[in-house]
Amino acid sequence: MNKITAAITAVGAYVPDDILTNKMLEKMVDTNEEWIVSRTGIKERRILKDPSKGTSYLAIMAAQNLIDKKNIDPKEIDLVILATVSPDMPVAATAVHVATEIGATNAFAYDLQAACSGFLYGMSTASAYIESGRYKKVLVIGADKMSSIIDYTDRTTCIIFGDGAGAALFEPNYEGLGFQDEILRSDGIGRKSLRIEAGGSLLPPTEDTVAKKLHYVTQDGKTVFKYAVSNMADVSEQIMKRNNLTNKNVNWLVAHQANQRIVSATSNRMKLEDEKVLMNIERYGNTTSATLPLLLNDFESKLKKGDNIIFATFGGGFTWGSIYLKWAYNS
Ligand code: UT7
Repeated sequence: MNKITAAITAVGAYVPDDILTNKMLEKMVDTNEEWIVSRTGIKERRILKDPSKGTSYLAIMAAQNLIDKKNIDPKEIDLVILATVSPDMPVAATAVHVATEIGATNAFAYDLQAACSGFLYGMSTASAYIESGRYKKVLVIGADKMSSIIDYTDRTTCIIFGDGAGAALFEPNYEGLGFQDEILRSDGIGRKSLRIEAGGSLLPPTEDTVAKKLHYVTQDGKTVFKYAVSNMADVSEQIMKRNNLTNKNVNWLVAHQANQRIVSATSNRMKLEDEKVLMNIERYGNTTSATLPLLLNDFESKLKKGDNIIFATFGGGFTWGSIYLKWAYNS
């Protein structure tokens, strides 16, 4: 038998209907359309307005979309990994609820928190489980209701983030397709520059933390930008070099959608033409854990069996990395 590789065999996604445009944000904070588009590339984002629904709703909808498209029996799923920074609750894991709701009753499930690199790290874990032969169907979901942790009076964050979810199914492949290589990194220096300060064990919630708005995401955008630009490009360049890839044989860059300028810095370093760079930031903003699978779902029809794809992310923590994967099917 050939070596087992871990291939993505199906994708699905969900974004809520409500749209938050740049013009709407102009009425909420001191900002303007021109600034937002030129500095980030974002035109609008989706917001889950229903206060009775959390991140699990987004994740369930994305997973259900995948299950329906692929027509799989959810009982065959072995493991559900949910990458998120906005779980329904701190305890119990949102993934467990999601797995039960989608009918994956034979699976175990857990949440993975690595900010904007959560889905990428989840891809790594899923691939290791598949390659080892231990499991046959691993569902990785990236979902975030960022609107639940964003301060809509803070113009440095509220213009960036949106809500959404995406999912990818990993299964064994015997033709050498799927996961090829990874470079994953982290650096705790990032904890100062991008965080939610309160609500954890270090600073539990009090009236004071609520009054000081310490339960919202804050970031030193300039610092995050600086680290993101160099680190995401570095790992993408490294993974190309050590796999003898060039701009000629890389078909697609699937990069975290935090800022169009950060993605451009990476694609420029890879010397990749714009047509090979998958982008949807203009429609969704930064959906944190969901950006990679949302890209896969939006551009699924363009991806062809055997295509060489470079994934790249940078996020809070800091966490970052790159994965080289060969696409395994034509849709
Ligand atoms: O998902 C992973 C984590 N996040 C990221 O990767 C985000 C990384 N950072 C960024 O994408 C960018 O740093 C931002 C989009 C957040 C900001 O863009 P920037 O080009 O770094 O702007 P800046 O923070 O240097 O601010 C430039 C100016 C400042 O005014 P002064 O000091 O030059 O007068 C800001 O006060 O723009 C001002 N500004 C705004 N103006 C209009 C900051 N936010 C806004 C805003 N609208 N929303």
